Amino acid sequence: MTTDESEPDETSADEQARTDGGAAGADDVALDPWGSSTVSDYRRLFDQFGIERFGEVLDEVPDPHYLMRRGVIFGHRDYRPVARAMRNNDPFAVLSGFMPTGDPHIGHKLVFDEIIWHQQQGGDAYGLIADLEAHSARGLSWDEIDTHSRNYLLSLLALGFDPEEGTLYRQSTNREIQDLAFELGIEANFSELAAIYDFDGETDISHMESVVTQMGDILYPQLEEPKPTVIPVGPDQDPHVRLARDLAARMRYFGVTTAYASFEADDTEQQLVAHAYETLAEERGGADTEESGGGDGGGPIRCIEAAEFLERERGPDPTDTETTPLANTITMLREAGKEPLRPRVRVVDRNATPEAFEALIEAIDGEKRVYDEHIDSFDLSRGAVESLAREVELDHGGYGFVPPSSLYHRFMTGLTGGKMSSSVPASHISLLDDPEDGYDKVKAATTGGRETAEKQRELGGEPDDCPVYELYTYLLAAADDEFARRVYEECAGGERLCGDCKEQAAELMREFLADHQEKRAEWTDRLDELDVEFESDRV
Ligand code: TRP
Ligand code: SF4
Repeated sequence: MTTDESEPDETSADEQARTDGGAAGADDVALDPWGSSTVSDYRRLFDQFGIERFGEVLDEVPDPHYLMRRGVIFGHRDYRPVARAMRNNDPFAVLSGFMPTGDPHIGHKLVFDEIIWHQQQGGDAYGLIADLEAHSARGLSWDEIDTHSRNYLLSLLALGFDPEEGTLYRQSTNREIQDLAFELGIEANFSELAAIYDFDGETDISHMESVVTQMGDILYPQLEEPKPTVIPVGPDQDPHVRLARDLAARMRYFGVTTAYASFEADDTEQQLVAHAYETLAEERGGADTEESGGGDGGGPIRCIEAAEFLERERGPDPTDTETTPLANTITMLREAGKEPLRPRVRVVDRNATPEAFEALIEAIDGEKRVYDEHIDSFDLSRGAVESLAREVELDHGGYGFVPPSSLYHRFMTGLTGGKMSSSVPASHISLLDDPEDGYDKVKAATTGGRETAEKQRELGGEPDDCPVYELYTYLLAAADDEFARRVYEECAGGERLCGDCKEQAAELMREFLADHQEKRAEWTDRLDELDVEFESDRV
């Protein structure tokens, strides 16, 4: 480990798990896919959006990438199924997309590397050019888009993407994406996009279309067969990821949950019933084991008893009794009266055809009860019912999507301090920059050094606030953790002075760019091997 894996928020280890997918409070921070991509406070991404800390799954990843080890990849949604697939050699996929609005730069390299790494771990890999999005949301001409598209793909290839094993495409020429996007669009409406993206009556339709196109992109790897899929992106793309996860679930034929009684309850209500059931069961179980013979502890727990339990817990004189989930739950339990509470797995019909619904009833072994729109299974585990539901869905023409997972990386600081921006050339290094320019930009970069060499020797530098140190950890040290740590320690310990440090970094950058561009040139001659059209006939 290097000394740099500053998890963005080591200070607060006290957050609770969130169940709302992060939707609550989402208005307070802008995560805007088309806005300026800076994040001033990574902690809020966990607190307000429900992005999970990558550090928590790191141990489950076989041989993690250095960007993971160093905390550059700081967050994720639901990465565990991907890690599990990697460990078990099961199918999984990785996909990310690039808007061809300018030259690819060292910030994009993070995502290229993530795609390539997952491909090398055995994933089906996809790299796409979001040209429809660039045209609609950024207003680029097709000529500009053609040039940039080529440049992105050349860098992705030069960094190691294997096009024979993986898939590269442009949104504009991929008919399957557009068809899938069209189907997904049926599950989303304007109000929802307005709420997520701040769209309003002035938003043009093609921009909205680019959103469903991206949904198509994200689910494309699962078109033939459902599989865990990871989408590595910057946190500004999280709204897209959340929407894609929702749409994936909405497309499913069946929803599988657990329940305790025949009535339909939402999640909160279900939790209240579960709480009542578990407490009463424990009381009874305790009585049974302690007093031999069991006596009055026996018999099923009935709905009415759970209602009474929740009423006791609520205490007298409740306010607003008509509308709270608690009040609803109590009413439902009272109405169910003597019905015993029994844990069960419930399958709810979402989009199933009547034939699929029938087939699932057939497929569920053991005790079951069939209602108009749901089936309760008493003998099977939730996992078993989930697999059956997916099998039946696939047999009947559904997609059976697994909700896509995501990885989030930190944005690189600009070389001039501030944010790294494509529109400020000195702030970033383009993968197309002349190696000498790359050298010069590093030499001119802002540092975390002290005003004088003397002070630096005395106090040490501040690598945590140094764009040059970032270059080492994100790129220049590559997989050499030992080297990255040495830079950090020497800097913090005052042995390393900025002049030499920048010289070393600048030379490494020059080497990297020269090498990268050599590989790009090799690929330039082989572009026709790819199944990608670089001259669009659009105008
Ligand atoms: N919207 C992304 C961007 O702004 C590009 C993109 C399109 C994308 N489709 C995607 C990213 C699918 C990840 C997955 O750069
Ligand atoms: Fe940054 Fe290097 Fe100076 Fe330390 S010595 S502050 S890492 S440039």
